[in-house]
Amino acid sequence: MKAVALVGGQGTRLRPLTFRTPKPLLPLVNRPLLEFVVERCKRNEISDLVLSTNYLPDLFRVALGDSLFGVEIEYIHELDALGTAGGVKNCEGAVDGTFYVFNGDVLTGLDLVRMLEFHRSKGAAVTLYLTPVEDPRAYGVVPLDDDGRVTAFIEKPSLADAPTNMINGGVYIIEPEILAEIPRDEPYSFERQLFPDLVAGGAPIYGYESDAYWIDIGTPEKYLQAHLDVLTGALQAEIPGEEITPGVWVAGGVEIDEGASVTAPAVIGDGTRVEAGARLEGPVSIGAGCVIGANTSITRSALADGVEIGRSCTIENALIGEASVVEQECTIAELAVVGPGASISEGNELRRGMRVWPDVEVGPSSIQF
Ligand code: GDD
Ligand code: MG
Repeated sequence: MKAVALVGGQGTRLRPLTFRTPKPLLPLVNRPLLEFVVERCKRNEISDLVLSTNYLPDLFRVALGDSLFGVEIEYIHELDALGTAGGVKNCEGAVDGTFYVFNGDVLTGLDLVRMLEFHRSKGAAVTLYLTPVEDPRAYGVVPLDDDGRVTAFIEKPSLADAPTNMINGGVYIIEPEILAEIPRDEPYSFERQLFPDLVAGGAPIYGYESDAYWIDIGTPEKYLQAHLDVLTGALQAEIPGEEITPGVWVAGGVEIDEGASVTAPAVIGDGTRVEAGARLEGPVSIGAGCVIGANTSITRSALADGVEIGRSCTIENALIGEASVVEQECTIAELAVVGPGASISEGNELRRGMRVWPDVEVGPSSIQF
């Protein structure tokens, strides 16, 4: 079987982290997110993965190569964004027979082989994976009849217009004939055009409900949550490095001062240095080549590679992009996001979802609450 992964979006809700790195390549416990998707292929008898690219396309092949974990990877680029269905149509020549489609920013423990059995047992043209969420407003809401047939597809409704909390989990099984319903070389959406139209036309579209682990990492809150979920084992996945004590994974060349403490669950990348008196209180994910200054404390946060944090900082519930510098006595908290290459001088306090754009320099004590 083959799968097409949609990875062409700009990841605007995750700016500034996505200005230089497409969302599906952002690091998750120090691995590009798409590695988890390739692993899902391997677990579920998918031999070939086709990436439907648009935004920053060249970075995908650099990160993943032509095959990974025994899964062949092909890259198909669209010059102008074609939307979700248009992006898959553009990959028509690369698929044969029944195939899977994945949103490239979703992590899930779903059993795809069982979903395929369900698809075949129903004689479906399309099967959508459905997952329960508390608040369906950010997703495609999908009510079913008693036989599991989709009766409507409502993308990003208001609460009043959401008939159920079962939403489109961003994994589809599609019969190839359906591709004929999508126009070539023009923007076309699964969620706003194809699915509602197919349902209205009476096509056999089914929903496969599962309570397997599921997350869409498309916002800072969810992207951070995904780190915590992998570290705590809510989503089972390989964490890179050696597990030096239960729940603490450390890569090569890491230096942790004797006077520093690391509490599980935590992952620390290659060559990172943790200075005296620093406290890493899990869940935390620290990239490669970082420096964590003396007496700094970090909890519920994810730092990308090459981040330098000065002494006596507090980093809590924060995301810090690649190669940024945070000087001494700063607080970065409450889902603040520091973009790649930014530098935050001493004595700043970033809170309440503040975002610092790439390479921006914030002067000493400029931001306080
Ligand atoms: N090739 C290509 N071209 N890919 C695209 C394009 C495009 O024009 N636009 C978006 N994508 C990719 C994104 O990179 C992402 O991996 C995936 O398609 C979904 O886009 P998002 O922007 O993340 O959509 P969403 O999260 O708001 O909503 C979608 O996912 C939800 C579940 O995670 C919808 O499918 C919802 O119905 C669904 O509930
Ligand atoms: Mg998404």
